Amino acid sequence: MRKIIKNGTIVTAADIYNADILIENGVISQIGQHLSTDGSELIDAEGHYVFPGGVDPHTHLEMPFGGTVTKDDFETGTIAAAFGGTTSIIDFCLTNKGEPLKDAIDTWHAKAKGKAVIDYGFHLMIGEVNDTVLSELPSVIEEEGISSFKVFMAYKNVLQADDETLFQTLVAAKELGALVMVHAENGDVIDYLVKKALKEGNIDPIFHAFTRPAEIEGEATGRAATFTGLSNSQIYIVHVTCEEAVRQIAEARNNGVDIWGETCPQYLVLDQTYLERENFEGAKYVWSPPLREKRHQDVLWNALKTGQLHTIGSDQCSFDFNGQKDLGKDDFSKIPNGGPHIEDRLSILFSEGVTKGRLSLNQFVDITSTRAAKLFGLYPQKGTIAVGVDADIVIFDPNSERIISAESHQMAVDYSAYEGMKVTGEPVSVLSRGEFVVRDKKFVGKLGSGQYLKRAKYNISNESEDKTYTI
Ligand code: URP
Ligand code: ZN
Ligand code: ZN
Ligand code: ZN
Repeated sequence: MRKIIKNGTIVTAADIYNADILIENGVISQIGQHLSTDGSELIDAEGHYVFPGGVDPHTHLEMPFGGTVTKDDFETGTIAAAFGGTTSIIDFCLTNKGEPLKDAIDTWHAKAKGKAVIDYGFHLMIGEVNDTVLSELPSVIEEEGISSFKVFMAYKNVLQADDETLFQTLVAAKELGALVMVHAENGDVIDYLVKKALKEGNIDPIFHAFTRPAEIEGEATGRAATFTGLSNSQIYIVHVTCEEAVRQIAEARNNGVDIWGETCPQYLVLDQTYLERENFEGAKYVWSPPLREKRHQDVLWNALKTGQLHTIGSDQCSFDFNGQKDLGKDDFSKIPNGGPHIEDRLSILFSEGVTKGRLSLNQFVDITSTRAAKLFGLYPQKGTIAVGVDADIVIFDPNSERIISAESHQMAVDYSAYEGMKVTGEPVSVLSRGEFVVRDKKFVGKLGSGQYLKRAKYNISNESEDKTYTI
């Protein structure tokens, strides 16, 4: 069935204009003025923005972590994503040392199959580099369509890789055409600080923040940037939280290093004091890197505005407060790290960013959708509104107001990190490849309708903008 969207204001990363959109066979087939509605289902977008579907490059659905498994899986997680205006996610596929990469990828496919209601791809974690891993990587890219590798510089004795592994991954990625992603915190220093805090009897959630200072996020970011320059490779720093890290990224970019930075909604609107909440409530806000002092928020907003940071990932990694977070009741280091953010990513960025004048509408689309699609080999199939691309579309009401609450959210997790926060602007209807997933704020999608996204290799020529920025 053909669909036609009329009367809306189309916003892409580059343009804002009024036009009709014709959708046929899941693809945008025409954009123009006064398109004929004959034989088409009419969707009236009067008074609404028409955005390309959000691309969330950072999720952890049904992921084993911290002695438990994240609460939201590919069913509840992708439904929540769709309600929030996201139509593609890229989830992190964890690997185990000594086991074939293919096995890990198969495990992740099994998690998503029959559940996902929007399209999804995978990043692949690299925990070790040896001849076996190196021999597998070409097929990971060519056959599986996974063109991004994730290296953890933290979580000692669990996920952490050493510097040699990071460097070798960068070298291999350059050769193969992949983008390396890093969790940049110095895991060795954290390990020492955590042990010391616990020895001194400091067991409360706030010590999660005190034992992971901003300086060591900056240090790890700088180290990763140095390795990237040295190997002439390419890197994407996930979940940047602080001025120290932003400075390292900006400086490296000025020196010509191919480095990109992501932040997350939580770091833009919440601060370290949340970890001090009474009755163990601080545990709800334990994720890594930790929330920072409030002054860092302005630095992050400014970095998004001026192009030192480029994307917003949700870092969706949800654990129930009751039954999961309380694993760390007597020891903050045992609180599973992560929070629920997939549903609120666009709303928070629009409300706090666009309506408060910190970002333009085009920047909003670039940061929530287009840029991630370009960096991760999905553009232009995803990340824009143009003739010939997937009809992944968000019809967004810029004026609606709502209060975020666990009572009304779609995620399976038992709390909201943004409980009581008022946001302006929300998705009303969301289409994935031309089919409604959310219609008039109701779920109308089909479990398993989401398709696996094989992604193209990393290619800097996807990016037309200049690479020089100042801080
Ligand atoms: O605390 C977090 N962010 N948990 C998810 C894993 C990661 O570090 O991204
Ligand atoms: Zn991380
Ligand atoms: Zn993460
Ligand atoms: Zn409306």
